[in-house]
Amino acid sequence: MQVFNTAARLTEFIQNNKAQNPALKLGFVPTMGALHAGHMKLLHEARAKSDLVIVSVFVNPTQFNDPKDLDRYPRTLEADVQLLEQNGCDAVYTPAVEDIYPNGTHTPYSIDFDGIDNVMEGAFRPGHFKGVAQVVERFFELVKPDIAFFGRKDFQQVAIIKQMVKVRQLPLQISEVSTARNTDGLALSSRNTLLTPEQQEEALIIFKTLSNAVEWAKKTNDAAILKEKLVAFFNTGTLRLEYLEIADNLTLQPVKQIVPGCTCCIAAFCGTVRLIDNMSLEG
Ligand code: PAJ
Repeated sequence: MQVFNTAARLTEFIQNNKAQNPALKLGFVPTMGALHAGHMKLLHEARAKSDLVIVSVFVNPTQFNDPKDLDRYPRTLEADVQLLEQNGCDAVYTPAVEDIYPNGTHTPYSIDFDGIDNVMEGAFRPGHFKGVAQVVERFFELVKPDIAFFGRKDFQQVAIIKQMVKVRQLPLQISEVSTARNTDGLALSSRNTLLTPEQQEEALIIFKTLSNAVEWAKKTNDAAILKEKLVAFFNTGTLRLEYLEIADNLTLQPVKQIVPGCTCCIAAFCGTVRLIDNMSLEG
């Protein structure tokens, strides 16, 4: 496995591989590191669907609306590189900030998200999705992948990326990968390492509430009633709920009726650590 710190070296590597095999299918997995089995699920999917797999590890400053969150975001590059090598990655790209933002992190960026960014994460984390789209677009420009892999754990992020690809008319496919959980159901997240073992137990209320959403949605079509019951259940735990929404899979707007094609999404604070998760409801 190759490790590249600069765009110049990375693009040279890609061009050499393409020269040897013009039909090469290039798979790309963007990450912010502190890698876990959820990221590996994306890598395995990329391995299965492409000839050459590139993973980026870059803690993107422009998507952190809270500077404290950026400061304490876990950074474990050595272990990440080892894990990627063991799991069949071909090349890792770990750029410096200047490589991604040659004109600085305040370089203007704008895109029409068609309202997808007004709700949930977009409403509670101003500027977050702009930063995500900005960095992913830059990665796409450098790597030029045929397929890029994203986790459904970040349900709204996938919709944002698909919208960016559509607006910019980029010739690539976005592949969605289902959420990896620990044996108790807690969605794997780099931020879980910031939780104490007790907090990890308490955080299970998110999974339990989402599992109830799936069950209870079979008995009611009324989203407002379901939401009220779910919030009451969630509040029997110790986490502080930021939002619980039942959202349309395409528009991301809250639904009135539970129909196939909607998803229950939760964001909550466990102590000072913010966690998100979601589950699809069949209605
Ligand atoms: P990060 O949080 O490191 O996640 C990288 C990718 O792994 C994302 O597509 C995310 O949805 C996926 N992922 C995280 N936890 C997962 C889990 N438990 N199961 C399945 N997939 C999981 O998301 C980002 O980084 C950044 O916003 C990024 C897209 C890299 C842009 O900076």
